[in-house]
Amino acid sequence: MDQVTLGMIGGGTVGGGVYQALKSSGNLLASRAGIRFRLKKIAVKAFDEPRKVFIPEKMMTTDWRAVVDDPEVQIVVELAGGTTVARQMVLTALQRGKPVVTANKALLSAHGEELFAAARDHGANLYYEASVAGGIPIIKALREGFIGNRIESIYGIVNGTCNYILSRMTAEGADFDTVLADAQRLGYAEADPTLDVDGHDSLHKIGILASLAHGFWVAPERIHVEGIRGISQQDIRFARELGYAIKLLGVVKKQRGKGRKPSRSGGAVQVAVHPTLVPESHVLASVSDSFNAVFVQGDIVGDTLFYGRGAGQDPTASAVLADIADAALDLKHEAPDRVPAFVPHDSNGSVQPLGECVSRYYLRLAVVDRPGVLARVAAILGKMNIGISSVMQPEGHSARHVALILMIHDAPNAAMARALKEIRRLPVVKAAPVMIRVEDFD
Ligand code: HSE
Repeated sequence: MDQVTLGMIGGGTVGGGVYQALKSSGNLLASRAGIRFRLKKIAVKAFDEPRKVFIPEKMMTTDWRAVVDDPEVQIVVELAGGTTVARQMVLTALQRGKPVVTANKALLSAHGEELFAAARDHGANLYYEASVAGGIPIIKALREGFIGNRIESIYGIVNGTCNYILSRMTAEGADFDTVLADAQRLGYAEADPTLDVDGHDSLHKIGILASLAHGFWVAPERIHVEGIRGISQQDIRFARELGYAIKLLGVVKKQRGKGRKPSRSGGAVQVAVHPTLVPESHVLASVSDSFNAVFVQGDIVGDTLFYGRGAGQDPTASAVLADIADAALDLKHEAPDRVPAFVPHDSNGSVQPLGECVSRYYLRLAVVDRPGVLARVAAILGKMNIGISSVMQPEGHSARHVALILMIHDAPNAAMARALKEIRRLPVVKAAPVMIRVEDFD
């Protein structure tokens, strides 16, 4: 049986998980892939870092170059995290013609274009299944499973921390800060949880999926992002009364043409991350706790759903093992670009400006409870050609201000932004309006 020698960078949670999984499942992997895997070295920050998984000291080095430059190491597994030194590690390995397996979504988001170009130029390849949705094999599905499909849309719950927070706020009426502290304790959240709650971790992941689905590199600056800090108990309750759950969704959609059908060819692609009202009848509404799910609509396959653990030692290790096997098989068969990373498809290779993107909206206003208020709000919306589909004002309030909930028909983001600016200036409107997009999945 052939043997492939691996070198790993990173001995933390994911690195420890991969080390352990290679020990426990190495034989299974070898018999399935027809290749034996030998992990030769692991570069770590320090020998005496606290670790959940024991790694023998003789396997460790504190010099990542000793891994990348080792002539015996054929595949480099980068699990160090970060975007500065990690970029150097990955580039150096690719320049040596060595395939790289990485779980680093922040790195790919920031430097993906450069790294994929380096892989191509040096006849190596970059494998990144673990970078999006942990254990869910969504990269393989998009790249290979749906190779014959035009991808009409992708809706992803790709941040376990945000889904955990929103689920517990919904189920228990718990407050944001308490639940975030629990997510950190349970190890779902990033070291810097603002990456999670402000939507940037989801942005990294949805940018990778968008690039893969549409065959051009979607730069992170082109992706509109809103996190979940502004979601209140009030909004969760009103949304539920209207038949919706609030989820943080990453959305990739082909620009809609007449009759809301995705453009067949030549159109731009919408890519965004924002809290979304999801109809309770839709399968994504019932994805709770720290689970991830990715709903993909292809023109041939129709609707598909991928569900599972998006983070954690073992689910991430599962994805890394799959990439190690793929990288080794591609080496064995001398096919580093067996499936090219980015081949332009039928979009025009551009991201649709947010202002042009059309959506439905939930709008919550804090208004003075006085006759004529609704008429004034409706007049502004009407002037901008924005239609109201329903209005709700809870009865029996005791506060000086009352919540006024409006569900808005399809409207471009730019028109909504203009309308909200004017509405905010009305003397009867007492706080910044809350606007959340509503998704129909049609
Ligand atoms: N912090 C991420 C999450 C972990 O909550 O999903 C993996 O990217």
